Amino acid sequence: MSPLDQLHASWPATILVADDEVLVRSVLRRALEGAGYRVIEAATGARAVDLGERERPDLFILDISMPDVDGVEICRAIKSDPLTHLTPVIHITDQAQRHERLRALEAGSDEFVAKPFDIEELLIRVRSLLRTKRLTDHLVSDEAVLLSLSRTVEARDNYTEKHLYRVADRSVEVARRMGMTEREIESIRLGGLYHDLGKIAVPDRVLHKPASLDRAEYALIKRHPETGAEIVRPLRAFGGPEPAILHHHERFDGTGYPYGLRGEEIPLAARIVAVADSFDAMTTDRPYRAALRAEDALQRLDDGREEQWDPLVVDVFVTQYVGSGEGREIPEGL
Ligand SMILES: [Fe+2]
Repeated sequence: MSPLDQLHASWPATILVADDEVLVRSVLRRALEGAGYRVIEAATGARAVDLGERERPDLFILDISMPDVDGVEICRAIKSDPLTHLTPVIHITDQAQRHERLRALEAGSDEFVAKPFDIEELLIRVRSLLRTKRLTDHLVSDEAVLLSLSRTVEARDNYTEKHLYRVADRSVEVARRMGMTEREIESIRLGGLYHDLGKIAVPDRVLHKPASLDRAEYALIKRHPETGAEIVRPLRAFGGPEPAILHHHERFDGTGYPYGLRGEEIPLAARIVAVADSFDAMTTDRPYRAALRAEDALQRLDDGREEQWDPLVVDVFVTQYVGSGEGREIPEGL
């Protein structure tokens, strides 16, 4: 493989080039098309905004100073729109424009190329940014699919999606207070969002049965942590929510499921999600009972220390809940 082959596009991305100088656009077009990219051009800032919205390019190369809308403002708009905030932006600058480069950085610019262009360097930067873009596209779409599956589960189970976010947010807060790393915290956030994903495989006749469940039906419900873990297992690059999903129904005294793990054998992520999930379930109206008051639910958590839940996690959760001002009258002894 020659050095030039290594600069060739690894996928047929679309690149928007915006510059008011026709010569700059044509140099960039030749180089990028030669490397296998699709190029669209804009001679003004307004045209770049319009094409950006209609064509959704995979990467922007923007001149900073254009007569109408400047490249920094376009970058700011791209980076503040949830649909495009992960799309990379390269700015074209003159070496002397330090002030402009700082403005562009502050607006979220990913890279700079200076005139006159070093084409080889430009292609290396483009390729590297697009590699990351492709990966994040996959992750974002995986997360979106899992989230919509999880919402479906919650709706079938008579919860709203707010339950998922409350479990995730409160679990994250406990993890932060316990000094966990950002990576661990991210896996707990995802574990909170997807903890009941596996209920997608539980039939409606079981999930919605008004009477109590027989042994076979209960066995079906108890499969949901393993089913959920199987769904997320292939997504290894994805923050690792599997332990929280697989073990969120283990009990601290070893009588939970699926494995009957005990105490610290249960991954900490799962011990945290278990407390946040139980609290939210207790304080939400269910078809078969009204919601408990927050103070009563906190008391139940305290009563279940050592048996159902990790006492340390319960302490952190209760302290955090009381400190947040969400709770009202907190009984003595908590
Ligand atoms: Fe569950």
